[in-house]
Amino acid sequence: MSNREFDIIVWGASGFTGRLVAQYLHTKYGSTLKWAMAGRSQSKLESVRAEVADNSVPIITADSHDEHSLDAMVQRCKVILTTVGPYGKYGEALVSACVKHHTHYCDLAGEVPWMRKMIDTHHDTAKASGTKIVHTCGFDSVPFDMGVFYTQQQVIEKTGQPAGMINMRVKAFKGEMSGGTYASLGDAIEKATKDRSQFKTLIEPYSLNPEGEQQGPDQRDLQRVIYDKVSNSWIYPFIMAGINTKVVRRSHALAGYPWGREFRYDEAVMSGDGVGGRIKGLIAASMLGIVMMAKPGSLLKKVIDRFLPDPGEGPDAASRAAGFYNLRFYATLHDGTIAMAKVTGDMDPGYGSTSKMMAECGVCLARDATPDVAGVLTPSVAMGEPLLKRLQENAGLTFSCDFEGR
Ligand SMILES: NC(=O)c1ccc[n+]([C@@H]2O[C@H](COP(=O)([O-])OP(=O)(O)OC[C@H]3O[C@@H](n4cnc5c(N)ncnc54)[C@H](OP(=O)(O)O)[C@@H]3O)[C@@H](O)[C@H]2O)c1
Repeated sequence: MSNREFDIIVWGASGFTGRLVAQYLHTKYGSTLKWAMAGRSQSKLESVRAEVADNSVPIITADSHDEHSLDAMVQRCKVILTTVGPYGKYGEALVSACVKHHTHYCDLAGEVPWMRKMIDTHHDTAKASGTKIVHTCGFDSVPFDMGVFYTQQQVIEKTGQPAGMINMRVKAFKGEMSGGTYASLGDAIEKATKDRSQFKTLIEPYSLNPEGEQQGPDQRDLQRVIYDKVSNSWIYPFIMAGINTKVVRRSHALAGYPWGREFRYDEAVMSGDGVGGRIKGLIAASMLGIVMMAKPGSLLKKVIDRFLPDPGEGPDAASRAAGFYNLRFYATLHDGTIAMAKVTGDMDPGYGSTSKMMAECGVCLARDATPDVAGVLTPSVAMGEPLLKRLQENAGLTFSCDFEGR
């Protein structure tokens, strides 16, 4: 793979998120990185390139419906970053091409049934060929997967033993959804309502674990508003928990259960203490419930669609810069005490921060000495320590841990 023409190709560079990934690579790495912008439309790519980069960045055309174009594209680079979604609709041909031609792959998929399908179809072949197929390289699920990886590292270093349980609580965040993400969410919900097995994959806690290892102590994600003694706050369901918690559990399984078979992990959002915190939690949970329950084709869904962006649209530069996130990982230690790790991001989670994380995953796979493991992987298993370093040095994330009281 060392003699490939490009380190990285960004496929989907004409879309909302792909353009941000391209802009970041151009600004951060310029000509020190060999990379190209790809998509299905030459003219769209040229106009995006004029806005976010310059003519020195090559353009490649490849369409998800044209296998030959994908084969030709993936053979030219070490790593493909794809923002062509919904992945359940457009993604599989690219994964197949990457496995076939031994090209590492990163996406922003949050579509759990599709990721399960990729594991079943491609894990063994990718493992045998030494190819890393890495889903969830954006806000879902890098800060969470790497947050647990980091927290356990700190706990083991300090106490000599891993934490038996970690509860991730979103303390605060600010950010909006793009049309592409909304389309992917809608696609996943529509498929799950039609197909019982996809619905099961969405709700079962261990559904991304290897075959035969889909049992464990964790229950389904939180469905209601409760008072949480660990964070001393009311908590409500987190929209990303259904993806992140499964990714963290897959990481643990792929790593060989270093934190013990009884390790538990969950996620929720904090809404504060007292009556105000409870009311805030109830309002947020109700709104989330309405968006998730709106049936495809229903009047309610049509009304919601009118207020949300179309594919290709998303938050502007000012909103992205004004965004942030602050996550807390409460780790229960073997003596019953609780340590707290924090992970923060300096831009809106979905786009500003996501595009930096995805780009750094690509550079990490192309350049760094990553763990000697292959297959359909998670970010922490595929990249581990070198990614943790990059996220802190380049992508605006901070990781810290406090053992002295939360
Ligand atoms: N996990 C996260 O944190 C996170 C964050 C952001 C986005 N996402 C996901 O990333 C994906 C993209 O989101 P977005 O907002 O950037 O969407 P978008 O603006 O709609 O971009 C989609 C891209 O896919 C391209 N495309 C569509 N059909 C294609 C085909 N048949 N062959 C080749 N390219 C094709 C589009 O090309 P044209 O420009 O030619 O139409 C465009 O470049 C979604 O699945 C979304 O859920 C995830």
